[in-house]
Amino acid sequence: MNILLMGLPGAGKGTQSERITQDYPVIHIATGDIFRQAIREETPLGLEAKSYTDHGNLVPDEITNSLVKERLNQADVKENGFMLDGYPRTIQQAKALDQNLQELGSQIDAVIYIDVDPETLKERLSGRIISVATGESYHKIYNPPKVEDASEMDDPAKFYQREDDKPEKVAHRIQLQMESIQPILDYYEERGLLTRVSGEGSIDDVYDNVKKALTK
Ligand code: AP5
Ligand code: MG
Repeated sequence: MNILLMGLPGAGKGTQSERITQDYPVIHIATGDIFRQAIREETPLGLEAKSYTDHGNLVPDEITNSLVKERLNQADVKENGFMLDGYPRTIQQAKALDQNLQELGSQIDAVIYIDVDPETLKERLSGRIISVATGESYHKIYNPPKVEDASEMDDPAKFYQREDDKPEKVAHRIQLQMESIQPILDYYEERGLLTRVSGEGSIDDVYDNVKKALTK
């Protein structure tokens, strides 16, 4: 099965991906995670991507398309199928993906759009913290990590905030992606592939919605 998981920043793509991969044998490919790893490792890709991701802007299509193409060609993805998280984000990327899949003799089986109100997105992103030790994402209120004392969540040796989750960046990211996502949703809706699911409610509630969409 090949899935596209779409949604605005903070919609819960990463959170729902963790659940989906427990139930489906698909390989999770998150372009944002790939960029952040490259930035941490200071690779040429990371150095190039950083100037865009730090400001909440999209990395140019040529760079993003070529890294996705390379990943889709790897054996584990060919064998198990994929779940793309945060790609495509432009029509040009959607067309490049179609081309790659055609070359691979593969196809998209489901496109899920996790729909969340912009005010809720801001609240989710501003409370997101990442574990220094494991890289896992949490939310200070909605999905707190297991800690002995709540003050540990503010300890920079234990948890950090993503650079693009700083308040001044969050509104820009949401606005930018609200504009760019609509034509892509139309693109998949016309092909009968798109299911919109409500991303409001608890993480479990949202996963129930996602699962229904995947089994319909
Ligand atoms: P990316 O990493 O994809 O960021 P994003 O789209 O902004 O999405 P997020 O990862 O912030 O949110 P999410 O939907 O995964 O939410 P999460 O589950 O963490 O991309 C980063 C950057 O890389 C981009 O800005 C761009 O520069 C670049 N990039 C990436 N892809 C690109 C592309 N295709 N083209 C060009 N550039 C690209 O949840 C958020 C928080 O909410 C967490 O704290 C979580 O615990 C909490 N939460 C989740 N679900 C719930 C719930 N139901 N109730 C309460 N809290 C919840
Ligand atoms: Mg994410």
